[in-house]
Amino acid sequence: MNSPRFRVEWLDSSLDRSGFDCDTPALNHYFHAQVTQDIKRRVATCFVARGEAGEIAGYFTLSAASVMLTQLPTPVVKKLPRYPSVPVVRMGRLAMDRRFKGLGLGAALLFDALARAARSDIAAYALLVEAKDEAAAAFYRHHGFAAFEQEALRLYLPLAVMGKL
Ligand SMILES: CC(C)(COP(=O)(O)OP(=O)(O)OC[C@H]1O[C@@H](n2cnc3c(N)ncnc32)[C@H](O)[C@@H]1OP(=O)(O)O)[C@@H](O)C(=O)NCCC(=O)NCCS
Repeated sequence: MNSPRFRVEWLDSSLDRSGFDCDTPALNHYFHAQVTQDIKRRVATCFVARGEAGEIAGYFTLSAASVMLTQLPTPVVKKLPRYPSVPVVRMGRLAMDRRFKGLGLGAALLFDALARAARSDIAAYALLVEAKDEAAAAFYRHHGFAAFEQEALRLYLPLAVMGKL
């Protein structure tokens, strides 16, 4: 049996998003009703995974952000220049439609986001994620992310790892 194929592309605002359901009302609502406003205002970009029939299997958003050096552990800070903050790319949201969970697609989208951030012309130290709960944080830890001190639901992965893959 052939595995289904998916492609990752920019969200086209004319795409019908109403059927998307990731079982998390806030992430559904954002995708149904708010994401195109954020894109229009240039505060986020959104990418979707689409199946062969065009169905939306998942989405993620990316934005520019920064992190204060005081939020990072000392061994990490020692390897960074002594600026007050470092630039990062923030993946504000990542969600898979309920029909497509557990197929490895969430991990594929996470990798796609890391690759986009790493090959950007604009430098960023890390990909930053905001996990909505402990289960989501566990997903990111499973993929090598580390939590900020005192903030278990904010995690980051230095983009230098992408050069080593
Ligand atoms: C979290 C989410 C994105 C994962 O996507 P998915 O497609 O179901 O996950 P995948 O099939 O790609 O899983 C890939 C790997 O991550 C692991 N994994 C998945 N969810 C995990 C979790 N909650 N904790 C730890 N590991 C997890 C899988 O076991 C798999 O491991 P393996 O590669 O070693 O076999 C998805 O469940 C989802 O959309 N959840 C609701 C929204 C959400 O929580 N978003 C997270 C950001 S707020």
